[in-house]
Amino acid sequence: MLPAMGDNVVVSTMELEKLLSMKGGKGEASYVNNSQAQAMHAKSMLHLLKETLDRVEVEASREMPFVVVDLGCSCGINTINVVDVMIKHIMKRYEGLGLDPPEFSAFFSDLPSNDFNTLFQLLPPMPNYGVSMEECLAAKNHRSYFAAGVPGSFYRRLFPARSINVFHSAFSLHWLSQVPEAVTEKRSSAYNKGRVFIHGANEITAIAYKKQFQTDLAAFLRSRSVEMKRGGSMFLVCLGRTSLDPTDQGGAGLLFGTHFQDAWDDLVLQGLISSEKRDSFNIPVYAPSLQDFKEVVEGDGSFAIHKLEVFKGGSPLVVDQPDNASQVGKALANTCRSVSGVLVDAHIGEDLSHELFLRVEHRATCHGKDLLEQLQFYHIVASLSFVQS
Ligand SMILES: C[S@@+](CC[C@H](N)C(=O)[O-])C[C@H]1O[C@@H](n2cnc3c(N)ncnc32)[C@H](O)[C@@H]1O
Repeated sequence: MLPAMGDNVVVSTMELEKLLSMKGGKGEASYVNNSQAQAMHAKSMLHLLKETLDRVEVEASREMPFVVVDLGCSCGINTINVVDVMIKHIMKRYEGLGLDPPEFSAFFSDLPSNDFNTLFQLLPPMPNYGVSMEECLAAKNHRSYFAAGVPGSFYRRLFPARSINVFHSAFSLHWLSQVPEAVTEKRSSAYNKGRVFIHGANEITAIAYKKQFQTDLAAFLRSRSVEMKRGGSMFLVCLGRTSLDPTDQGGAGLLFGTHFQDAWDDLVLQGLISSEKRDSFNIPVYAPSLQDFKEVVEGDGSFAIHKLEVFKGGSPLVVDQPDNASQVGKALANTCRSVSGVLVDAHIGEDLSHELFLRVEHRATCHGKDLLEQLQFYHIVASLSFVQS
């Protein structure tokens, strides 16, 4: 039975940090089963990550571990793969310099509701005591680092001062710390009436999002500049856009601003939710332009920019049969649900959420061919070195 209109509690923006997560577990719409596109996009940027790692200062002393962090790690295999790449690359650098490598620590960090259990179950085991790091690297299916999970928002401090050599974060910084309050206030000129995202919204609404993104990114950099060791580097990738206009959110705009938006409108038209209920839901995502991002890094001043560019990632939809419209429709609905399903469930309840994503799937199936061509993600890629002590 579907709940009556207005039965569910609106989640206040203050609680976003406690609530937000990708869909956990290993089900059809889970992040684990819907993050192959991120894996492919990350793979196509590996050369840029390795360039960043080549800039990290390695210390001759073996007393302290070399520490890498993945921020916004989520619960899939992608974070484990990227940590593996980073540690193997740094290990090679030690070898190239004729230095004995230190021990390695990897911190997997995300918000507290992340499914850390699923992540930890995917981690390869540590080898037995007495096996050297070199032997460990040579052995398949073992990890060569100590691992720990760190719950908390990357918009705040997470680690002790001067303790981290490398920060990595992929496909996460476009998530805002909150929906700007003005966007949800009915009397505000930034109220996002009729929409659940800023794609195609009025400019004032989009500018409120841009401000929030820049405030959040500034807080992120401030925290990292305290935590990073001298000589450390950072590799950041987040959804971005090629247009200067913030109301054109590019690939993110198509994902959350077309079939997803239409499905919310369907629920309103069919009397399953009120229009206020729809209008009080907003996806807390902002795909910045290069300029939006650059202004903040330069304003912070703690990091030298080695690379800051827009990178074409490709489609977020991975399907075996691209000509099969129902596969494409399902992929879009699952992709959308894996990243926003937890927020939608909290806002309208699981039953209505199920109804919503059925409608997303149905609408996307009708446009399967166009979707594969048109839905393309661009990413902002930043390679930064810590310059200020
Ligand atoms: C799309 S997933 C990316 C996962 C992974 N990096 C990958 O490459 O597959 C985005 C992740 O960012 C996390 N995230 C969003 N806002 C965050 C915040 N303020 N602090 C920490 N993690 C955050 C989400 O919980 C989510 O797990």
